[in-house]
Amino acid sequence: MSSPKYIRYHGLLLPPSAHSMESLEFAQNFSVEDTDVFAVTYPKSGTIWMQEILPLVLSGGDLTPIQTIPNWDRVPWLEEKRLALIVDQLASPRALVTHFPYHLMPPSFLTSKAKVIYVMRNPKDIVVSSYYFHQMAQFLEDPGTFDEFMEKFLEGRVLFGKWTDHVKSWRHAELGDRIMYITYEEMVQDLPAVLRRISDFLGRNLSEDTIHKIAEHCSFKTMKANSMSNFSLVPKLYMDSDKSPFLRKGVAGDWKNHFNSEQLARFTSVIYKELEGESFSLPWSL
Ligand code: A3P
Repeated sequence: MSSPKYIRYHGLLLPPSAHSMESLEFAQNFSVEDTDVFAVTYPKSGTIWMQEILPLVLSGGDLTPIQTIPNWDRVPWLEEKRLALIVDQLASPRALVTHFPYHLMPPSFLTSKAKVIYVMRNPKDIVVSSYYFHQMAQFLEDPGTFDEFMEKFLEGRVLFGKWTDHVKSWRHAELGDRIMYITYEEMVQDLPAVLRRISDFLGRNLSEDTIHKIAEHCSFKTMKANSMSNFSLVPKLYMDSDKSPFLRKGVAGDWKNHFNSEQLARFTSVIYKELEGESFSLPWSL
């Protein structure tokens, strides 16, 4: 059952504070350019991290965008209301983010040469991150207990539906060398290595000095202190960081502090069952 706090779009639950039927229609009619770069994520997989990384990689390490433009305007969400207001101000090549599954991408994307970086994160850490996000984001439903929230997550009664559906849709996207897959865990483990891959994928030939400079500016600590990236510009009425900061822990494996053994068994069996018979395998064991 859909909550009154959300609107429904092609079966997906979305918060009306960020999305409207007009913004979703705008996204469908969006004119994608061949030079556009999309970071695609299921929510809580590292979206704002990519909003920091992409402008830096695309500009060869220029700090101006990340220090002067809030993340939602420098790398906007394809599906959110803001896009129509700021689209004309975007620097070329444009970088955007989206939580859309592949089949909801605009027709102009499919026929373009635009590139995609799909960021995947262990769903056990996603459900934990999302649980805290629902406590701080006042425009979202109260998550209830962790146990209740996990059930909602497994049933797909959360923003952008089931994690497994999202991953399947993008793993099966027929985009050839237009798409690269990375994981949040790789970024935590060795950000410079991931930055090198992104830089190659986007045809940038960044020096080691630039790679390391970018890694430093995209570290959890630096982003947490950057008012253009930490959502401190958003009124408390919408995001209450006293309840939980948006940049919360920034680690892999926090699920171990939240799951009990029954929850782990149930979570693992549901996710594995939904991925049974798939041609791809997960980059980590659950
Ligand atoms: P946690 O809640 O586990 O800390 P999204 O941007 O998709 O909503 O994802 C938010 C998650 O990404 C949060 O996870 C946040 O802390 C994490 N994150 C954002 N920037 C990060 C960075 N530079 N390093 C590590 N994690 C980061």
